[in-house]
Amino acid sequence: MTAGPGREIRRARPEDGESIGPLWTSSFNLPPAWVAKFEERFRPERVLVAVEGDRVLATAQGYATAQWFGGRPLATIGIASVATDPIARGTGMGGEVMRRLLDEARQSGNLLASLYPSTLPFYRRLGFEYGGVFTVHRVLLGELPSARSGWGNDAAADLVAMPEDDEPIRRSFRRLAERENGLVEGLEEDWWRQRVLGRHSAEEPGGTVATDEGDAPEGYAAYRQERLGEAADWGCRVACTHLVAHSPRAAIALLGFFRRFKGVGRELTWQGPPSDPMAFLLPEQTLQVARTWRFMSRILDVPAALEGRGYPEDVHGEAVFAVDDPQFPDNRGPFLLEVEGGKVRVSRADGDDRDGGPPIPIGALSTMFAAYVSPAAAARAGLVDPRSPSLGLFGRLFAGPAPWTPDFF
Ligand SMILES: CC(C)(COP(=O)(O)OP(=O)(O)OC[C@H]1O[C@@H](n2cnc3c(N)ncnc32)[C@H](O)[C@@H]1OP(=O)(O)O)[C@@H](O)C(=O)NCCC(=O)NCCS
Repeated sequence: MTAGPGREIRRARPEDGESIGPLWTSSFNLPPAWVAKFEERFRPERVLVAVEGDRVLATAQGYATAQWFGGRPLATIGIASVATDPIARGTGMGGEVMRRLLDEARQSGNLLASLYPSTLPFYRRLGFEYGGVFTVHRVLLGELPSARSGWGNDAAADLVAMPEDDEPIRRSFRRLAERENGLVEGLEEDWWRQRVLGRHSAEEPGGTVATDEGDAPEGYAAYRQERLGEAADWGCRVACTHLVAHSPRAAIALLGFFRRFKGVGRELTWQGPPSDPMAFLLPEQTLQVARTWRFMSRILDVPAALEGRGYPEDVHGEAVFAVDDPQFPDNRGPFLLEVEGGKVRVSRADGDDRDGGPPIPIGALSTMFAAYVSPAAAARAGLVDPRSPSLGLFGRLFAGPAPWTPDFF
């Protein structure tokens, strides 16, 4: 940021809300319903601002989250609200605020950063690369199976209406997160209430349903009814944030439940994995993708992120590698990577006489780490130099489900 009188980057204060509200409204073209809730949602302690005097010129917001890879949750800063006043864009201010946010996040123990980009070059320069996919699926309600039809030998589970913000639902989500890659869970109190459950209101009714066995239900869904078309027309979409099933009887119960909205209800949408296994419960090929958006990730602490992730148990080996990271010198290595039965140890390899080969750009390492792309495909796309000797071992370590997450932030 160009140094000037009264210019600084600092944590936001409650009174900054007055200029942050209009900045976010214009930068993200936000609807009036969002603007009305700004005061309720604004948490100054999450936001970094670049100010000139008392005028806010740029912002970035960080959510405390856990992001799951290989069955383990890693401390991750979920970044949003990256905005610069149009008058100050293109002067390096947004980049400066982002670097400060990443620096502070790393110092406070975050191993990764993830965000939904509206533009790529700005974030690629900061070390981010594709880290997974957000997908909204859509199906007409009449195409859903009835809960009475059963599925194979499985009768549908019983569903109950759940109170919002319920701990069993979170445990059920974690059961999903443990077997997938990339799922992000906010750790602050408002994440589940505002982003996942309880997004309905008097105008948009909805709720949360779940199977009621045990302390982590076999399945759950959080939904709201969104009006389609004019007020005189009663057609609605039943929009789920999460639609999660750990067994066929939970899946059939949830799909059968939403089928009963047929008539006034027209279609069901939910935020699921790109290849959603719910498709196996639909009799015809009627599942469509209504929306898809890639998120980006960046490793903040290379040794700790590699040691913290989970891996397939049958991987063994050793390799030396180096990293090209423009912001964090400690990430550059060279490092010795030792793998024994899926357990990873990373240490400095300065004395090692093996050559780590061409440094792996931090964005390329991040996208391979996320299992978004295999090292071989990354090399074919020109992200990494195929001569890097660690690529084979990384390929075996990072093999796993394609990364995704159900929540947009
Ligand atoms: C995206 C956004 C935050 C970038 O903020 P910014 O303060 O303009 O960012 P920077 O100045 O650091 O970089 C922006 C561009 O200016 C260029 N730039 C930076 N410093 C420069 C300088 N001194 N002289 C000329 N150009 C410069 C950068 O190279 C960059 O180019 P790019 O368009 O190829 O990426 C801003 O455009 C914005 O608020 N957009 C609307 C909201 C939005 O989309 N936010 C992102 C949500 S994910």
